[in-house]
Amino acid sequence: MSLPTGKNLARPRFGHSQDVFQLHEVIEFSLFLGGKRLLFLALNEIRHALLRRGGRLEVSDRFWGGAGRDKVDDLQVNRARRAHLVFRIQRRLEAVRILGIESSCDETAAAVVEDGSVILSSVVASQISTHARYGGVVPELASREHLRTIVPVVRLALEQSSTRLEDLGAIAVTQGPGLVGSLLVGITYAKALALVRRLPMIAVNHIEGHIHAVVSQNPVELPALALVVSGGHTHLYEVRENFVYRLLGKTRDDAAGEAFDKVAKLLGFSYPGGPVIDMLAPHGDPHAVPFTLAKMKGNTLDFSFSGLKTAVLRWSEARDLSAEVAARRELLRRNSHPSVAEWLAVTPRETLDTLASFQHTVIRELLRRAVKAAEEIGARSLVISGGVACNAGLRIAAAATRLPYPIFFPTPGLSTDNAAMIAAAAFPKFARGEFADSTLRAQANLALA
Ligand code: KG4
Ligand code: ZN
Repeated sequence: MSLPTGKNLARPRFGHSQDVFQLHEVIEFSLFLGGKRLLFLALNEIRHALLRRGGRLEVSDRFWGGAGRDKVDDLQVNRARRAHLVFRIQRRLEAVRILGIESSCDETAAAVVEDGSVILSSVVASQISTHARYGGVVPELASREHLRTIVPVVRLALEQSSTRLEDLGAIAVTQGPGLVGSLLVGITYAKALALVRRLPMIAVNHIEGHIHAVVSQNPVELPALALVVSGGHTHLYEVRENFVYRLLGKTRDDAAGEAFDKVAKLLGFSYPGGPVIDMLAPHGDPHAVPFTLAKMKGNTLDFSFSGLKTAVLRWSEARDLSAEVAARRELLRRNSHPSVAEWLAVTPRETLDTLASFQHTVIRELLRRAVKAAEEIGARSLVISGGVACNAGLRIAAAATRLPYPIFFPTPGLSTDNAAMIAAAAFPKFARGEFADSTLRAQANLALA
């Protein structure tokens, strides 16, 4: 048994308000799905279903023997020329539910999203406590945890959204980039579900997911500039109509989130480092340590954070921080989630200043290149997404920049890894009929553009 593939599937582009529906595509699609559910619906019914969603129907000359598309209303439809529409498709015109599965790194996540934007459920099982004692993600442990949690996480996402597998239009899964062993768990499970339930499967790039975490929830005008900034990425993309992407710049060494994590580890703070540095930075002076901004040869839209990380290392080596670092590690041994007050009690002023200055420098780097890139492409919106987009300092700094276009951030729940963003990113692919088949492979270094 094979899964429906994009090859033999026509591509009705339904679901988006501006979409134009080609009748022959609807028919081919319905014939492809076939089976008992095949219904005969009059053209008007299809047209009304589309109109209710703000879509419209174009009738191709191929079917109507030269009848003009503007004459749709006048067409007398005989049985032979009726639109054949599968009941499932009609239901999908009402609402399409996609189950998203994400397992690229250290979060096992599943979500059900309707029509690419209405999040009916979003379940995230974090492995942070497993990896925290190692100060970073341990790939073997991550795969094992995914295996343990994938079934209950998917079940919970379905339950919380009152969705049965048969209510789904498709299953979306992260193909990459990420840890190959982790990706494999999600992909294998998605394949099994899709095969057994005869559901189409959609492969999603994790980075595209981060972009859709914002695009699906906000009135983002295209072209947009997307800054994806997480533990694994610091990338600038141009986002054009139909979600066509162009890579404009990326980090040449560490990702911004990775720099947060490494600096935190170096100074004895908890993993991941971003949230704790974010929490403590307001207690220090961001101008106290004049870290220099990275100068890039070649593509000036590229980033580099390893110099800054090394500068923090040199700063700490120049002082004897062993007592305060030991005190923080001891605090963490007693309490895995210290409060701000508890951290402040074991963090002298000078270290707080360094954290604030470090964060301030990262934010300046991110914003100056994002703004420059946005200018270059004539962006109508700026999208900032990924785990580091949670950063309060970054959000405040972005709000303070006076730009001729709006800046959109994800909600905190959609900033770090989740499956709702995967299901949201899958929706335009679903509408275009871009399905994966059972040969889908995990790709650790999958590029978006
Ligand atoms: O998107 P994400 O959950 O996973 C990846 O795809 O990498 O991002 C995780 C990263 C970590 O490096 C973490 O330190 C960082 O996002 N992060 C933050 C904040 N919250 C998470 N960085 C700065 N400020 C935060 N508030
Ligand atoms: Zn991510």
